[in-house]
Amino acid sequence: MKIVEAVKILKSGDLVAMPTETVYGLAADARNPLALAKIFKAKQRPEDHPLIVHIADISMMKDWARDISPQALLLAKTFWPGPLTLILKKAASVSDLVTGGQDTIGLRIPNHPVTRELLHVFGGGLAAPSANRFGRISPTTAEAVKAELGDAVDLILDGGQCAVGVESTIVDVSGDDIAVLRPGMISVQEIENVIQQSVLLRKKNSPRVSGSHEKHYSPVTLTRLVKMDDVLRDVVGPVAIVGFADDGVNVELPSRKVVMSRDVREYAHELYKVLRELDGGGFREILIEEVPEGSEWDAVRDRIGRACVK
Ligand code: TXA
Ligand code: MG
Repeated sequence: MKIVEAVKILKSGDLVAMPTETVYGLAADARNPLALAKIFKAKQRPEDHPLIVHIADISMMKDWARDISPQALLLAKTFWPGPLTLILKKAASVSDLVTGGQDTIGLRIPNHPVTRELLHVFGGGLAAPSANRFGRISPTTAEAVKAELGDAVDLILDGGQCAVGVESTIVDVSGDDIAVLRPGMISVQEIENVIQQSVLLRKKNSPRVSGSHEKHYSPVTLTRLVKMDDVLRDVVGPVAIVGFADDGVNVELPSRKVVMSRDVREYAHELYKVLRELDGGGFREILIEEVPEGSEWDAVRDRIGRACVK
């Protein structure tokens, strides 16, 4: 049984890639400093970047966090298991390697049957950043994890393609103001509806939030955000276009167009998989057409924006 093998590997301080509903994570025992160090090495990630700790159950929050507000608990009860990370004041026992030396910790209960079982059998917290090298596109399939990390990971649990496809919404509930640090498919509106108070969208947040580095989630191929008129005017092939079916843009081989859904959930589900595939396709550029306005597209717009920063 893969889960038993995975738990054995984790208990001995090694790394397991695990599927979540958002993206694949590179997991280590969050109580084992040597195991945590392996995450930073495998990802080539700076050590002051805090990690999210994944837990099995709401009752475990108190093992990792203190001063949990009623709003924090309400968000946990409403959205967990699910694509939401809560930033809380950390418990005294939590290693600086997990928090990047900060006084706060990110917690989440992911919603994927394989990883829920893994967490239950493991019994503790699993620190897990996205299973990509630092700054690159998060993997949404087991094949993508293999391509990113190869032998740096001891076991990859294959849970199929991630259902959500972009990283969790990060909400800071550690202070008086409640703020979204990284937009995700759980929107600001949904969060406000639950806690009945307004939530800040902290655009220029601390660089300690690794997703807040301007360039992030990037293909290697030059990637630009364009309006569809520009696409028709500027194209010098071979280019890859990520657009919509009804936008009037069509290109000929060796250029290629990938048609995306106008349903934001379907778009998010496919985005990283498409970018990863196009990145390996030998195109001169990847051109991503602007997505619709509206806050439900915030997470997708955020990730596309970062993919285009060079
Ligand atoms: O959907 C997700 O959140 C995925 C899956 C695997 O759970 N994980 C993920 O992890 O995206 P990572 O490390 O790639 O991004 C986590 C983000 C980083 O930007 C990190 O800086 C931020 O969470 N973070 C973690 N702890 C924090 C803290 N105490 N304060 C502020 N930001 C924190
Ligand atoms: Mg990441």
